[in-house]
Amino acid sequence: MDISAPWTTYEQWGKRYGGIIYCTLLGQELVIINDEEIHHELMVKRSSVYSDRPYLRTNELFGLDWITALLPYGDEWRLHRRMFNVAFSKRASEKYKAVQMKKVHQLLGNLLSTPLDYPKHFATLSAAIIMAITYGYDVAPEDDPFVDNIAGLVELFVSAMTTERATLLSAIPLRYKKQAAECRVLARVVLEDPVKYVRDRTAAGTATTSIVGDLFEMELGDDSASRKDETVKAVAATVFLGGAETTAAILLVFLLAMVLYPEAQAKAQEEIDRVVGDARLPEFKDRDNLPYVQAVYLETLRWHPIKPLLLPRKTTTVDVFNGMYIPKGKSYPSAMTRDEKRYPNPAVFNPERHLTAGGTLAEGTSSQYFGLGRRICPGRHIADQSIWAGVISILATLRVGKARDEAGHEIDFTPEFTKGLAPHPKPFHCSIEPRSSKTAQLVYASVGAN
Ligand code: HEM
Repeated sequence: MDISAPWTTYEQWGKRYGGIIYCTLLGQELVIINDEEIHHELMVKRSSVYSDRPYLRTNELFGLDWITALLPYGDEWRLHRRMFNVAFSKRASEKYKAVQMKKVHQLLGNLLSTPLDYPKHFATLSAAIIMAITYGYDVAPEDDPFVDNIAGLVELFVSAMTTERATLLSAIPLRYKKQAAECRVLARVVLEDPVKYVRDRTAAGTATTSIVGDLFEMELGDDSASRKDETVKAVAATVFLGGAETTAAILLVFLLAMVLYPEAQAKAQEEIDRVVGDARLPEFKDRDNLPYVQAVYLETLRWHPIKPLLLPRKTTTVDVFNGMYIPKGKSYPSAMTRDEKRYPNPAVFNPERHLTAGGTLAEGTSSQYFGLGRRICPGRHIADQSIWAGVISILATLRVGKARDEAGHEIDFTPEFTKGLAPHPKPFHCSIEPRSSKTAQLVYASVGAN
């Protein structure tokens, strides 16, 4: 097994052995789910049994045991989810749409000025949205101290976090002692520094609205009050860890799809021209009238999911499923990304699979890329808004395609993907140009007005 990309192995096993598989990895027992229906049955209908996370000794060793996604199913996790519900419910997320669109317009400006730096621009966009919403903080275009610290932590975190890696780390802990100590120090900085920024600005009377500010105001009214301070810091830092890399990774997948599938790009642009026109930039209110763009968005999430294993769960009791004995306390990575029964020719980017013959959105196509049940991703509404805003705005204003050599021939390439926590395309050759001088003017006018 390639421990950096175990889903590729699980996918092969799924084809050979079916929707649910038992295996052992260095003595650790795993149950792998490869089928969306089985996943739904276990994670939603039997959620009281399947909502724990596997205990990884590396979480404590690396000082990362406050991250919401890693917490055991219990009181501390419940308090985190209460805070997430206040900050990121569907309704609460609506109020961030304006700031998200503003940051996306800045992205368009950056792509027009230095198109070849697109990976950096996507990373900046993700960080800018998350930091503005969470801490009311405007990130610096280069070398932002908060962003650099978190990026460093993400790197160390990735090396410790997956079940498969953690199993190996636990088997040879001494080799990772120095890395763990470094990570513990950085984790504390990431928890404390941005919150101190909010507190300093509140004391000076210059604070803008932020999730941290709102959560400090939240009435807990029970014995959780004493844990409020640490929990707010942990929730806020989790937001960055959960949200920044993922959003940038998905936009890279989208860009790659548009370069490799120009006909999908052309159809989406035809729809935008017809519905929105070219006198203004698209807005969130246009979304329901753009089913093809929505299909492109859904297919981007499906084609190369940036969390191909979702996040592993653990059972709190034994269970029996379809006559199979499901042991207590085992890990359940899910690898359903290329379920051929559900998605014929899964390697092809095909937005039409999410549409009816009449061109409207097909029922039940929004799938399980954000997980399911009690531990479903609490950031899914805000993530959905950021990604959609990026997709629609790029389609409306830019034409992307393969780069050309000096003789004008398209440069072909085979896409390669990173491995790790949010696998995404490695930088690839492409050209990014304004669709017309009018769309470029609209972008510059919007960036200038903000
Ligand atoms: C951009 C795309 C994103 C994707 C594809 C994604 C995907 C996921 C997935 C698959 C899970 C595991 C769910 C499960 O166990 O069933 C998860 C959990 C989580 N996500 Fe996201 N996520 C994204 C963005 C975000 C954002 C923006 C935030 C923060 C605002 C966030 C915060 C979390 C947290 C805290 C958990 C752990 C939940 C728990 O264990 O209770 N995610 N996410």
